[in-house]
Amino acid sequence: MSLIQWIDFKEIGDHRGNLVALEGNRNIPFDIKRVYYLYGLQPDLPRGFHAHRELVQVAVCINGQCDILMDNGHSKQTVRLDSPTKGLLVNVMQWHEMSNFSEDCVLMVLASDAYDESDYIRDYEDFLEQTK
Ligand code: TYD
Repeated sequence: MSLIQWIDFKEIGDHRGNLVALEGNRNIPFDIKRVYYLYGLQPDLPRGFHAHRELVQVAVCINGQCDILMDNGHSKQTVRLDSPTKGLLVNVMQWHEMSNFSEDCVLMVLASDAYDESDYIRDYEDFLEQTK
């Protein structure tokens, strides 16, 4: 499973502006059970710092920009989310940290399941242990 998996969304644009459609099991590789979005973020207050045991997500920065560090316990890479036409797949057991939010950043996340705190791994040492 590669660490960085981008999904390119088709931009449907005309003289009135642009539109992107996200559909479960079509351009999003799972049934979408939850959508949440982060906004009003601070550049010096990073978020995330966890991995999920079973949840799969797609993160899309629909306005502004931010960085996301992805870590599978063996390698790490930071990429920039800066386009409403690009989604980043956040797969199971991928530790992620979002940072460097622009003032206008709106980070939308599509998730394969409802919120469940017991699916989170919030301790990095635990995460490393489970990805050995
Ligand atoms: P948290 O996991 O700390 O956010 P981030 O991963 O961006 O750092 O979540 C912040 C709070 O929001 C926490 O109390 C859990 C709650 N929450 C929900 O109630 N539902 C959700 O879908 C999510 C993602 C978080």
